[in-house]
Amino acid sequence: MERTFLMVKPDGVQRGLIGEIVSRFERKGLKLAAAKFMRLTPELAEKHYAEHVGKPFYPPLVDFITSGPVFAMVWEGDNVIALTRAMIGKTDALEAYPGTIRSDYAVHTNFNLIHGSDSKESAEREIGIYFRPEELVDYEHLMQRWI
Ligand code: PPS
Repeated sequence: MERTFLMVKPDGVQRGLIGEIVSRFERKGLKLAAAKFMRLTPELAEKHYAEHVGKPFYPPLVDFITSGPVFAMVWEGDNVIALTRAMIGKTDALEAYPGTIRSDYAVHTNFNLIHGSDSKESAEREIGIYFRPEELVDYEHLMQRWI
């Protein structure tokens, strides 16, 4: 079972798309392991996007990601990293395939609604930035299962 870090960005929150986005992953059959509604500080944004420091889009990216609340989540399931990346679609909404979140709802690359980890290493790193281990649901060892 694999885990990934997903985050509805400030544009997605402001446009009322948290429910729609969460619903897509739920209906796919993935499991929500943690969630946090929060606002990123510039320090946290810098930690998250450390690999992009120095790129031309970095300053506007940090301004954008800290501009309002985000919905940070951990999801789990088989191949969840690749599956959620496919469901999110390419960074540029113009290149995203129809049926993906970015194709269906985003217009600009800079405001592309949702972040998803792109590898096991980045998933582990990003989950660790936003969540403590005890904040993640351990489905394997749940005493009660209702579904
Ligand atoms: S790169 O350079 O290929 O590593 O960039 P990429 O992984 O596609 O995206 C890096 C994050 O920056 C966001 N972003 C942009 N990327 C490219 N160009 C522009 N103009 C831009 N504006 C914002 C992009 O959405 C990625 O953030 P996340 O949160 O991972 O989606």
